[in-house]
Amino acid sequence: MVSRRDFLRSGTLTGAAVFSGTAALLGREPYGVFGARGDLASALRSLPGGRVRDFKLNAAPAEWDAGDGRRVAAWLYNGTLPGPELRVREGDVVRVALTNSLPEPTTIHWHGVPVPFGMDGVPGLTQPAVRPGERFVYEFVAEVPGTYWFHSHFADQFERGLFGALVVEPRTESLAYDVEHVLILDDWLHDFDHAQAAEVPHNSRVGGTAMGSMQMEGDIRQMVRNMAMSSERTGAPARDGPPGHGVPQPEPAFQAHTVNGRRGDAVPPISVRRGQRVRFRFINAGTATVYPLYLAGHRFTVTHMDGQPVAPFATDALIIGMGERVDALVEAVNPGVWTLGSVDAAQRESGLALTLSYDGFREARPQLGTVPTVPARPYQGAYGAIQARRQTMPMGRSFDLSLRMASPTLWTINGKAYPDADAIEVREGERVRLTLRNNSAFAHPMHLHGHFFDVVRPYGATEDVEHPLRKDTLTLYHMDQHVIEFGAGNPGASWLLHCHNQYHHTGGMATIVRYT
Ligand code: C2O
Ligand code: CU
Repeated sequence: MVSRRDFLRSGTLTGAAVFSGTAALLGREPYGVFGARGDLASALRSLPGGRVRDFKLNAAPAEWDAGDGRRVAAWLYNGTLPGPELRVREGDVVRVALTNSLPEPTTIHWHGVPVPFGMDGVPGLTQPAVRPGERFVYEFVAEVPGTYWFHSHFADQFERGLFGALVVEPRTESLAYDVEHVLILDDWLHDFDHAQAAEVPHNSRVGGTAMGSMQMEGDIRQMVRNMAMSSERTGAPARDGPPGHGVPQPEPAFQAHTVNGRRGDAVPPISVRRGQRVRFRFINAGTATVYPLYLAGHRFTVTHMDGQPVAPFATDALIIGMGERVDALVEAVNPGVWTLGSVDAAQRESGLALTLSYDGFREARPQLGTVPTVPARPYQGAYGAIQARRQTMPMGRSFDLSLRMASPTLWTINGKAYPDADAIEVREGERVRLTLRNNSAFAHPMHLHGHFFDVVRPYGATEDVEHPLRKDTLTLYHMDQHVIEFGAGNPGASWLLHCHNQYHHTGGMATIVRYT
């Protein structure tokens, strides 16, 4: 073990030196092995030393002020946006009592955590939805350390603000840092500047709220036509993808973005001292916005993606799809007042920016510095250098999944929309390969419930990389192709696999992994 101090003296943030030992780099046993058949009692016995951590979440309508003085109607956990941070230690039993004070049913999904089937929070698939006025207790073991999040999985509820961070700290922290910040990024549908305050639901677009879905579909079609036309003329870059993926988006333009529920100047500034090592945990809780991030005057060293350790690498810009998480370290070596925010000026101006200032600096305006560009194939160089352990289960079945837009409101996998999609049928104990092809111009963050997966053939590679990246959500940009594999080690009836763009998800881009 290298102490935090020793590590700071070593003076480098690159390479394996970020971690104290190889254990953290090697990953762990194939995931999803605990909680087989949802047998929580046996799972709890298998993790001696874990504490039971009790939390209470009350989902209820509430007003929220993103910091610009306008109060909007939202649905929140315990009245805050984001909801309370749940922070536990590896091996702890997490017990969350959910009270539903909403006017509709609800559930909670523990995004990225391979929980037992009955705890996964998909209404109608893994549990009956919790009805208004009722309670449900979620209980699982936080087996794998990392940055996760939780959100309602009922209809479009998480868009109204029902989400929060779930951080599982390792029993022994091998990463050296002085301070930590969890930053949750989110997109808002409504234009705060033109909306009638209390009538504005957070991001709501379906049913019974400010805008009916029929009208919205019409709006979307018109918008797609407009955007397609303007994109043809200007070659303008995608709003929903990194620069270089020049496509229109069949979604309304989000007119506000928030960091931890606040916009721009209202986001509390981060102060650092020269020489500190700062750990960021970024979580994209947006419904349909990919966030490209940078910190003026500094570089990031990425240490974890979707909570799982990677061979650390330095980069000027991060790109984070919906549902994805990135942990990155920053070395405070450039005193001043700096912008931490989106690479995209429009996103920054609509709220996705905050100030990082060094102690002793008092400038009014943060410096934007040199805004980096995002590569057309994000993280490409990192894929083969990730130090995860390979799945050890015997190779089983393979499936090809083609992701397409059938119409701006109909999104398909192999030509079929959920619930008509073909199920991916697997047998317990086998290794399953999925070839994901994005046959569309849109970004699709594909999320598998209940299992981690390894990206074994990134970007159309024809052979397996030696050290695949382990994730639970993988964004496929314009026409990307990746082969992923997972160990079928978490049996239950069926697990959801879906695009985490909420429009695409509700528009049909989902299927199930069914244990036969
Ligand atoms: Cu983040 Cu199916 O969920
Ligand atoms: Cu999608």
